Amino acid sequence: MDQVKKRSDDFKNKIIYQIYPLSFCDSNNDGYGDIQGIISKLDYLKDLGVQIIWLSPIYKSPMFDNGYDISDYYSINPIFGTMEDFDCLINEAKKRDIRIVMDLVINHTSDQHYFFQDALKDKNSKYRDYYYFRNAGKRKYPNNWNSAFTGPAWEKVPNEDGMFYLHLYTKQQPDLNFHNEEVIKEVENVMKFYLDKGVYGFRCDVINQIYKTSLKNGKFRILNRGGEHYINQEGTHKVLRRFYDDLLSKYDTFLVGETSNLTTDEANKYIRNHELDTMFEFEHAMCDGVKWFPIIKKKFKMKNLLKPIYLWQNKVDWVSVYLENHDQRRSVTRFGDTKKYHKESAKALAVLLFLLKGSTYVYQGQEIGMTDYTDNTMEEMDDCATKYALQTAKKLFFFIPKRKLFKILNSMYNRDHARSPMQWDCSVNAGFNQGAKPWLKVNKNYMNGITVEQEKDDPNSILKFYKKLVSLKTNSEIIKKGDIKVIFLSNKYTEFERCLDDKKICVLINLTKKKVKYPIANINKEKILISSVETYDDKYLLPYQAIVYEV
Ligand code: GLC
Repeated sequence: MDQVKKRSDDFKNKIIYQIYPLSFCDSNNDGYGDIQGIISKLDYLKDLGVQIIWLSPIYKSPMFDNGYDISDYYSINPIFGTMEDFDCLINEAKKRDIRIVMDLVINHTSDQHYFFQDALKDKNSKYRDYYYFRNAGKRKYPNNWNSAFTGPAWEKVPNEDGMFYLHLYTKQQPDLNFHNEEVIKEVENVMKFYLDKGVYGFRCDVINQIYKTSLKNGKFRILNRGGEHYINQEGTHKVLRRFYDDLLSKYDTFLVGETSNLTTDEANKYIRNHELDTMFEFEHAMCDGVKWFPIIKKKFKMKNLLKPIYLWQNKVDWVSVYLENHDQRRSVTRFGDTKKYHKESAKALAVLLFLLKGSTYVYQGQEIGMTDYTDNTMEEMDDCATKYALQTAKKLFFFIPKRKLFKILNSMYNRDHARSPMQWDCSVNAGFNQGAKPWLKVNKNYMNGITVEQEKDDPNSILKFYKKLVSLKTNSEIIKKGDIKVIFLSNKYTEFERCLDDKKICVLINLTKKKVKYPIANINKEKILISSVETYDDKYLLPYQAIVYEV
């Protein structure tokens, strides 16, 4: 094997900001966010201290799964702009010392991609083997796997008796076949194209599922049935290592993997073998859902959130730390309090996010404490996963009215909650655009002051607090490089330390509405670096109080 070239690990301690382009800023007032909109906000991001932007997909796509269904990897979706706009974004970001990371969606393409269209039209097309076409024979489907969005993972091929194709997500997203050498080469060419344009790295969508070792039936499970044949397979390790050997080792780049169902040992295997540089842990993101069926809500408990986070902090070489993204509900709604303690709880969660070890990911709007958009109706629902889940729920619970099922799903699962347009100011549509109907409704609470404009001049705002945390992290070697030691964890509060050489920082976080007994008197107030509430009590941590202090 070739000697591994040491790449710079510059990505490690960066502040990474995720943009969901549809909802960020609509410069041409057509209801959809776009690249020129992003460019117009680069100064805002620079001022916030962002060093890397991760862009959710902007490639050409029929947008069934809002860009996670790519029909042409080499063009930009016209609703977002042109390739010239994208080049301009890379350059404008570079001028501000900000680098761009793209979403790389390679487990599947859109069913509109010419590979798939050609494979459908012509059984002898070379693209037929780019996907999984299988005959069901006497069975209902070729195997018993189900889609991540519920329902069967196979869709019938029109006009071909008994023939199906595999889709682990929606039927508009057929899975690519990574047993085929040419598929591997196609993906390498896409990465090379964007790396040569100056893109810094890739967030790799559902990457630990790309290789299907066999298509045998899976063990009975409600979710991910078949997973033992496609999650974390040896073949995936080999494909990712190929990407590194053939291409990625030659660039100063990094890959962050979206990797559900991963143990810490497996995570390190990806990292140590140069397959992925870092990844997202998933268990904490499911902490308020029932284990066997996470779309059913259960009461939030701090221990359930922090146990998996601490495990990964201690065991995995380099973690990507996040509390929300375009697939998760807003963290302040889930783990904080949107009524009495909106500010305090959003700040306490921010302390957790920034003080943990790893790369810090902020999802657009998190920095102003944006909350779930829960007032939507069944008719307004956009999220394809919720549409799928509603269909399945209706089959299983046919005796429950559809609206009621939607209400249950909406309280937990609907990915639209975190996708409502960014709240810039108090003008029409929260300044997302000039008044055209946005693709998804704006959260009305922009009128209550949850906007960039209102928060930017308020010294106590969530936004100002994020800025302080960014600067705290960027200027502290302990926070960037120090080890983490968990001192205490209960459902009331937690305490951990970050240590480097003989220096130590201590973090205390109360994520409840109640004050909890803790002898604050022992803390030297001069040594407090940041706190989510301004007042102190010598014996108690106040509701949602998070304090960081030097020891
Ligand atoms: C990832 C994306 C999600 C998408 C799915 C299928 O989980 O984050 O938005 O629906 O992959 O591509």
